[in-house]
Amino acid sequence: MRILVIGAGNMGLTYAEGMSKSRLLKKKNIMVLDTSEKKLEELHQLSHFDAFSELKDCVPQADIIFIAVKPFHAESLFKAIKPLVNSGQIIISIMAGVTIASIKEFSGLTKIVRAMPNLPAKIGMGLTSFVISPEVSRIEMLTIESLLNTTGKSIQVSSETLIDASTGISGSGPAYVFYFMQSMMEAALQMGFSKNDSTVLVSQTFIGAVELFNQSNLSPNSWMDMVASKGGTTRAALDSMDDNNVKELIKEAAFAAFNRAIELGKEN
Ligand SMILES: NC(=O)c1ccc[n+]([C@@H]2O[C@H](COP(=O)([O-])OP(=O)(O)OC[C@H]3O[C@@H](n4cnc5c(N)ncnc54)[C@H](OP(=O)(O)O)[C@@H]3O)[C@@H](O)[C@H]2O)c1
Repeated sequence: MRILVIGAGNMGLTYAEGMSKSRLLKKKNIMVLDTSEKKLEELHQLSHFDAFSELKDCVPQADIIFIAVKPFHAESLFKAIKPLVNSGQIIISIMAGVTIASIKEFSGLTKIVRAMPNLPAKIGMGLTSFVISPEVSRIEMLTIESLLNTTGKSIQVSSETLIDASTGISGSGPAYVFYFMQSMMEAALQMGFSKNDSTVLVSQTFIGAVELFNQSNLSPNSWMDMVASKGGTTRAALDSMDDNNVKELIKEAAFAAFNRAIELGKEN
């Protein structure tokens, strides 16, 4: 199996590296193409991948074409690819808002996977949600899943609407966590901790809480009940959040990202 990654930016290289570190593919079977001269020079100097600047030199040899360019490049890229493809090839696109129907129309291919990654993919802790077109077989889907899992975990969803929804949860989600962390760090500073101690207090609290959650079958609500005793300190904090409607505001924020993903899809 040979994979061609088009767009050697943040995400394209993250997936190329993830796939190359796994045992699924030999490095020589990962091709990378970019139009940026600077990027190509870096790829030739640093990387173990076969680097290309011309579509005709690599598209026909690929079994899977992984597209990681910005959405506004999609149309011209697919038009350029169209004369070079064959019907057995699979496209995996991580471009936000670019629909399966438009990829089919512009590329001429039918086996399409639309995926939504998130930033922790960079350290192998990502979450990629993906949806497949009906033309992708079950065996092909399992291969795709294994490839996406090289940067963390993946979930298959049943519709493109759920890809937009996952943008609102896992795609944009790391920023919500950073927002919460920043707020707690600012509170710690105001309470008198040094910047360094504030950072350690907050980051270790997040790591510990997430690990507790992962190692149990309890819901976040059950954990909150266990931590917060009546009349205690944690209850005071949770009551303050409830009084200020924080849960509803967080849900509203997630829906704002979901709705923006839908809007961007229409613009694209
Ligand atoms: N970053 C994230 O966290 C994230 C999350 C979810 C989805 N995504 C999606 O991932 C995609 C890539 O994002 P990114 O942040 O990795 O972008 P990026 O760092 O800008 O990388 C894109 C690379 O593709 C090159 N390129 C542009 N047009 C090309 C073409 N026709 N053929 C080959 N290469 C081309 C660009 O070169 P130039 O710089 O010269 O244009 C650049 O090196 C986007 O569609 C985005 O929606 C990203």
